[in-house]
Amino acid sequence: MSTIISITVILLVTLPASLSVLHTRPEDAKLNFTELGIKYGHSVEEHDVVTEDGYILTLFHIPGKRSQSILLIHGIFDSADTFIIRGQLSLVLTMANKGYDVWAGNTRGNKYGRRHTYLDPDTDAEFWDFSLHEAGYYDLAAIVDFVLEWTDEKSIRTIGHSQGTSAHFVLLSTRPEYNKKIKGFIALAPVAFLNNLIPPVSTVTEVGPVINKFLKSLGIEELLRDQSAARELIELICSQGIISYDLCYILANSPFLGFDSKRIEPDFWEVITGHCPAATSRKSLVHFDQIALSKRFANYDYGTLENFRRYKVLVPPSYNLGKITTNISLIVGQNDLLSRVKDVNNLKSLLPREPKYHLMEPILWNHVDFVWANDMDVYLYPYIFSSLEDFE
Ligand SMILES: *[C@@H]1O[C@H](CO)[C@@H](O)[C@H](O)[C@H]1NC(C)=O
Ligand SMILES: *[C@@H]1O[C@H](CO)[C@@H](O)[C@H](O)[C@H]1NC(C)=O
Repeated sequence: MSTIISITVILLVTLPASLSVLHTRPEDAKLNFTELGIKYGHSVEEHDVVTEDGYILTLFHIPGKRSQSILLIHGIFDSADTFIIRGQLSLVLTMANKGYDVWAGNTRGNKYGRRHTYLDPDTDAEFWDFSLHEAGYYDLAAIVDFVLEWTDEKSIRTIGHSQGTSAHFVLLSTRPEYNKKIKGFIALAPVAFLNNLIPPVSTVTEVGPVINKFLKSLGIEELLRDQSAARELIELICSQGIISYDLCYILANSPFLGFDSKRIEPDFWEVITGHCPAATSRKSLVHFDQIALSKRFANYDYGTLENFRRYKVLVPPSYNLGKITTNISLIVGQNDLLSRVKDVNNLKSLLPREPKYHLMEPILWNHVDFVWANDMDVYLYPYIFSSLEDFE
């Protein structure tokens, strides 16, 4: 009897491990950006970019034609990998195949941005004291300057996804000299205002301050670090074939990103879970939460005293979108639950120069279809390439 019980216990304990052994994961789930680039036939350089405040960020480069440099910047809980994991269909490889000089940057916090000249991400909480503000003001600035220096060009074109677009709006409004360095910017799923969120996203933003207090009380500053228990668990649960797909993509992600199962199929979902979610800081989510709750695209709210010390006013100042003169192309999905069409229209009305604007035709096009959809070449790339030509 006791033998049966112990065998059952052993089976239950080892079941998740044996499942993951039985189920072979796709190779591309495990390769890094450089390895993927090489696998699909390109040479990839890795550069270290050091920001003014000491963060060391890996910048990937697939060399191409002179004066055809394009820089890509990923969103939150993501990394440069996002633009290459679709293989030959990915934006990075599509551009590289066309001869563009492709650069894919990383902002601080993910596995490619977890180094600092003197802070230790494992022991110094100060390392995690950043949000989309620093992603724009420091990281994007340093990456753009690095590319300009390396290529000996005066200006480049950039593409951002989600928080990667927020970082652009921060940089171009706070350091207007970058409007000359970025001659054209394509914003995929643009995020500045979050005034029109709907449940369940808006429900999460409402309870955000409570969740934040809880995480803070536990001393949690880094969220979903690579190889952390939480990250490994997500990867294990979400990479077990069709049931995991239903559970993780359809039930857990779609209510937040938009439901569109046709464009991200189960096999590819397993590749995604090898790369995403990537780590970020607690503060990054708090800043987005403040933007949603205050209905203002504004600097981080530190509370009145600290606000006054930093900003000389009690309420954090809004980012001055009126300073943005770069050519911009806004591309929006009708079923995007984070970058809402109404919010992008609001942003559009506040930019001093009329941007190009495209509403994706497929009505189910969601937040992550911009980087992962299996028909990006049909519906998205024509607009990206026509904008790139307009901004040449
Ligand atoms: C990617 O993987 C290769 C081979 O394992 C390794 O040499 C390289 O350092 C990795 N790159 C990064 C940025 O982690
Ligand atoms: C915007 O694009 C045009 C070409 O359409 C280019 O001549 C101009 O320099 C760009 N503007 C800025 C601010 O870079």
